[in-house]
Amino acid sequence: MENFAFYNPVKILFGKGQIANIAAEIPADAKILITYGCGSIKANGVYDQVKSALAGRNVFEFGGIEPNPHLETLLKAVELIRKEGIDFLLAVGGGSVLDGTKFIAAAVHFVGDPWDILAKQAPVTAALPFGAVLTLPATGSEMNTNSVITKWETQEKLYFASPLVFPRFSVLDPETTFSLPPRQIGNGIVDAYTHVMEQYLTYPANAPLQDRMAESILKTLIEEGPKTLANPQDYDARANLVWSATMALNGLIAVGVPQDWTTHMIGHELTALHGLDHAQTLAVVLPSTLTIRRDRKSQKLLQYAERVWGIVDGDEAERVKEAIAKTRNFFESVGVRTHLSDYGVGLDTIPAIIKNLEKHGMTALGEYKDVNPQVVEQILTLSA
Ligand code: NZQ
Ligand code: ZN
Repeated sequence: MENFAFYNPVKILFGKGQIANIAAEIPADAKILITYGCGSIKANGVYDQVKSALAGRNVFEFGGIEPNPHLETLLKAVELIRKEGIDFLLAVGGGSVLDGTKFIAAAVHFVGDPWDILAKQAPVTAALPFGAVLTLPATGSEMNTNSVITKWETQEKLYFASPLVFPRFSVLDPETTFSLPPRQIGNGIVDAYTHVMEQYLTYPANAPLQDRMAESILKTLIEEGPKTLANPQDYDARANLVWSATMALNGLIAVGVPQDWTTHMIGHELTALHGLDHAQTLAVVLPSTLTIRRDRKSQKLLQYAERVWGIVDGDEAERVKEAIAKTRNFFESVGVRTHLSDYGVGLDTIPAIIKNLEKHGMTALGEYKDVNPQVVEQILTLSA
């Protein structure tokens, strides 16, 4: 096991009715800005719950944060915060609203062009405190330091991370997710699944506890995902999906082990250029990445095949092939298509994707840092 430091201070308020308890988590004299998306919280009653929990408080609002949140939109919130002297943010929505709010929190005190926080990885030295009410299980943003932002003007989608943007608290009430359409549930299942895979499916690091935890999350997603799709109002199945998605990317399974974020990095470029949902890009790229990298990943692929899918028959190559096929079928079974052609994207996009990866310094991806542009080309070609 590699050395590691682990720190995660996020207070989780899990379960039915927890929105009612947020006032106690926010300083009484705070000037609060509620940030939200494009209307779902008004349609499903979450907005009303938040407003009544904060009755009597000094509350401002900023709506319109779009999926794959845009820098251009978020900078308007920064202006409002500076003008009104707002000192606490409350993000209410999916990963895009949470990520956007993390960026806003960091940008308010940033000196210079805030896009540098992503484009130049400029250090974040201060951030406004914020809390979250999560309405879409997928990204893990509710319990991590990551934020992924799109600059619309240049069609770039980049990430930053800073311990200063951990939420102070996150409310996870599964009932707030009952209004999600099947497409977003499928997306959430695939995103969480891929997060686990990118931290687990590398090479053995003598970290059996992290391995077993990762496998547990994968198996839970395989078992509970279809249940929650079939019965969207089944509280228990949905609660299990919500908690699995949080556990998939809160740092716990990443400690002491190698990681491979190839699929996500290629995926971000696909979204930036072609507008696919985040999880759609992962469903397309992950099976091809595993196939192209099957020799370097063979030990973990065989472990994955046996422990997650119960595949024990056949020679090693057959078992690996079957495990990757099961992964693809699982994604398809939850409604997320797994080929570029399903989204009208042709292989003629490959040079542009590679050019953008090069521009963003992503030419040595993977746990061995040997996923170079040639390997990316092979992966995308196989994703046709
Ligand atoms: O904007 P509204 O009206 O709220 O609608 C949203 C949006 O259209 C809707 N929605 C959310 N909760 C709902 C709901 N509709 C009905 N009922 C509800 N309860 O769902 C749509 C998608 O929302 P979005 O927040 O974009 O989805 P998701 O949570 O999947 O977030 C995706 C973003 O997170 C980034 C992705 O790149 C993408 O930009 N990621 C963030 C990560 C992180 N912070 O650690 C890691 C991930 O790998 C990912 O990259
Ligand atoms: Zn993701």
